[in-house]
This record gives sequence, structure tokens and C-alpha cells, in this order.
Amino acid sequence: MSNSSIGIFDSGIGGTSIFKEIHALLPNENCIYLADSINAPYGNKSEIEILQLSIKNTELLINKGCKIIVVACNTATTNAIDYLRRNYSVPFVGIEPAIKPAAISTKTKTVGILATQGTLSSQLFHKTTDLYTNGITVIEQVGDGIVPLIESGNLYSDDMSALLELYLIPMLQYNIDYLVLGCTHYPYLIPMLTKMLPKEVKIIDSGLAVAKQTKSVLSTHNLLNISNGKPTIKLFSNGNVDVLNSILNGEFDVAYLDF
Ligand code: SIN
Repeated sequence: MSNSSIGIFDSGIGGTSIFKEIHALLPNENCIYLADSINAPYGNKSEIEILQLSIKNTELLINKGCKIIVVACNTATTNAIDYLRRNYSVPFVGIEPAIKPAAISTKTKTVGILATQGTLSSQLFHKTTDLYTNGITVIEQVGDGIVPLIESGNLYSDDMSALLELYLIPMLQYNIDYLVLGCTHYPYLIPMLTKMLPKEVKIIDSGLAVAKQTKSVLSTHNLLNISNGKPTIKLFSNGNVDVLNSILNGEFDVAYLDF
């Protein structure tokens, strides 16, 4: 069982930001990644649709023998992980926006979060935010349109710059000093965001924390792969395989799968 794969899924290619952190921390683990790009974005779907898509991806990964499932999508985590944990016996790791570290470190007592509508309106997001942000103002911004641009291979485009300006300038007027990236597609925006934001505004994403949590859960369940062989890493997309390949700089084995 310990040499079975880590299963990872996302609404598309954004969760590769999490896959890369997991692979860097656990280089000998086998991994299977599902990019459900044909159904992206999840962020403006109903809770029931997000749940159904999360079940479909989970069952495919379980059928492929995965020993743990990383829900590398904030929208799927906040809307479906409780159900998945209750209904499947494999351990799950999810991604919640990193509100807690931002709330602990903010000096201006104001933090910004950029996420999808599905994440920001979920019960889990509100529960976490209420828990950690006593005395802190949280400026929420829906990142409408960002995921489709990334999924269509238009990451560094004028349209993306225009969207980011539209979303960030109002947040800056509230004097935020932390910007939490609440969607796994958004770490790919960091080079653009760094150029646009004043240097006092720090950007937080959840990638490394999720990789560490994955390692810890594997260890608790005695599932860490102790063999030293070259891992088998396979990434599947039901959308445009070229876009997935290009975001990974052609470094991994990518294939089309109808799911
Ligand atoms: C989306 O599919 O809309 C974004 C995925 C995420 O929330 O990480």
C-alpha cells in the first residue's frame, strides 16, 4: 500500500501548484493528478455540482488505487471535503485559504483574500475566518474570470493584467498588508502580483503547508513510501493537454483522459 500513488485533483491545471510542492517535499512518492479542465471553473458552480464533480474525481483516483487524496482545489475543499471524509475510507488532505497566518502577522489589521465565489460563500470558509480574525478586517474579493484565462493558456496576458488591476486596486485602498491567495490557480500569478503590489504587501499561498500536511497524514497512517526507486508520476487532463504540459514546462508525463 505504501507504494500506491498520492491522488491529487483540481478543477483544472491550478492544482499543479500543489502537486509541485508535494513532489518537491516527497520526491519518491508516486503521484496521479487529475485536471478536470473540461468542468473548470468550479468557482461559480452550485454546491451540489461541486460535490458531484468532487465525487467523480475521488472515485476515479480510488479506482486507480490511490492511498490518499489531496483535494488541490479551494472550491472543492470548502464545499465537498466533509462529505468525502464521511463517505470514503482513504485519508483526504484539503486546501483552505491561509487566513490564519495572515491574521496572525498583519500589522495594519487588514488582510485581503482573493478567491472564487464558491470558496468565499462556503460555510467552511466562514467558520475558519470567524475563528482566526477577531479584530481583523478581511477584505474579500471574488477573482471572476482569472481561472478561465489560466485554463485557456492566457496567463501572462493584457486581459489578466486588467483583471488583476480591477481586483487589487480597491483592496489596496483598504490598506491591506497581506494578500491571501485562496485558489490553487493563483500562485501562477505571483510574478505578476509581485510587480503590481507595493512591497509592503505580502502574498500568502497554501502550497508548502499542504505538502507538509500530506507528509504528516501519510506518516500517521504509515503510508510513506520508503522505497528509493524513481517515482511514477502521471498527470491527466480531460481538457487541453498542451496547456497542462506547458504550465509544467514539459517536465512530467501528461496525457489526455476522458473522465
Ligand atoms: C475554480 O475552479 O474556479 C478554482 C479552483 C479553486 O478554487 O482552487
